[in-house]
Amino acid sequence: MSEKETPPNENWVFPKWHNKIPLIFFGVIGPVVTITAIAGVWYYFSPKFTDVGYTPEQPVPYSHRLHAGELGLDCRYCHTGVEKASSARVPPTQTCMNCHSQIKTDSPKLRLVRESWIENKPIEWVKIHKTPDYAYFEHSAHIQAGVGCESCHGRIDQMVEVGLAEPLNMGWCLDCHREPENHLRPKSEVTTMGYTDAQRTEFLATAEGKAAKESVNPPQHCSGCHR
Ligand code: HEC
Ligand code: HEC
Ligand code: HEC
Ligand code: HEC
Ligand code: HEC
Repeated sequence: MSEKETPPNENWVFPKWHNKIPLIFFGVIGPVVTITAIAGVWYYFSPKFTDVGYTPEQPVPYSHRLHAGELGLDCRYCHTGVEKASSARVPPTQTCMNCHSQIKTDSPKLRLVRESWIENKPIEWVKIHKTPDYAYFEHSAHIQAGVGCESCHGRIDQMVEVGLAEPLNMGWCLDCHREPENHLRPKSEVTTMGYTDAQRTEFLATAEGKAAKESVNPPQHCSGCHR
């Protein structure tokens, strides 16, 4: 501010009502700002779709460790879409009732499953893995290429509750798209858990492995995933 523009009196710069600023700030605006800040931090730092470890509570205490691990059910028994569709799908209550109409028929842990069955209302499972709408992802292309569930979802067969094993962000997608051969296996092994690096090395040396390595070409250009 130049000399000439010096205000005629102090009140021009600091009108009287400014004395109330501390009051307004601490009394009204302060708490609002603080609450907004806390909400923001809460939102951005709470586990979400790209945060490894995000493990929401599910309506039914369904355990993959029991069903996929100990009982040895194949993933595709329930996730019927993985091979042919973009979505893997979460099974309908019917799939559970294939067994639970005979097994543990009065377990309180299965009350919601029975209710869902009787009332013909789907169980509201909480979604864990989600890519945003502007990014295109489909399961079938990955499964057909011989990428195992475990490369992207971790050891589901050891999880009592499913949590996010990988971040699902763009860098993560691209890391694999640049070097897909480190994640290939025979198509017959896509649902196998605990597939080892030694097994992979052996596979990649076979004719089938070499062919697989040569035929895959995951997109790295933007429009491959942002269509
Ligand atoms: C008996 C049926 C059944 C089998 C077998 C099964 N699942 Fe699931 N899966 C479910 C149900 C029900 C849910 C939803 C509840 C939950 O997240 O636990 C689910 C959820 C998931 C999710 C998280 C879905 C989301 O919301 O993002 C993944 C990933 C998954 N399963 C992978 C697998 C893999 C890999 C296997 C094989 C090792 C497998 N499942 C075997 C029933 C099954
Ligand atoms: C192939 C058969 C089969 C299918 C399909 C199946 N289960 Fe099970 N489930 C079992 C067996 C076996 C047990 C263990 C029973 C025991 O502990 O004696 C079990 C146990 C459970 C338990 C624990 C019950 C308790 O009281 O401890 C829950 C909860 C459960 N299953 C939920 C589900 C849900 C939800 C689905 C569908 C997504 C499902 N199951 C599909 C066979 C099955
Ligand atoms: C290349 C990585 C990758 C592989 C391999 C993969 N998934 Fe997924 N999966 C994802 C992503 C990413 C999502 C989130 C999809 C979305 O938001 O549309 C997801 C979501 C899911 C879901 C939630 C329902 C859905 O389709 O959105 C289930 C269940 C699931 N996967 C099971 C499986 C099973 C079972 C296999 C192996 C047969 C498998 N996935 C292999 C990356 C993968
Ligand atoms: C573990 C390795 C791996 C990860 C992680 C992975 N991909 Fe892929 N992706 C592949 C392979 C392998 C192919 C198959 C390429 C082929 O068949 O030529 C593929 C193919 C694709 C294709 C082409 C499919 C088509 O039909 O044209 C798209 C799109 C794609 N991936 C998107 C994604 C997105 C989005 C993510 C992250 C959310 C992701 N991928 C994570 C390995 C991976
Ligand atoms: C292999 C698949 C894939 C390719 C190739 C890809 N993206 Fe993405 N991109 C994604 C996924 C998945 C997300 C969502 C990430 C998330 O949820 O954090 C994303 C998010 C974004 C975002 C949102 C901001 C961010 O970082 O989350 C921008 C901008 C973007 N991509 C631009 C690009 C551009 C530009 C290219 C080409 C140079 C490109 N993408 C190539 C998968 C891809």
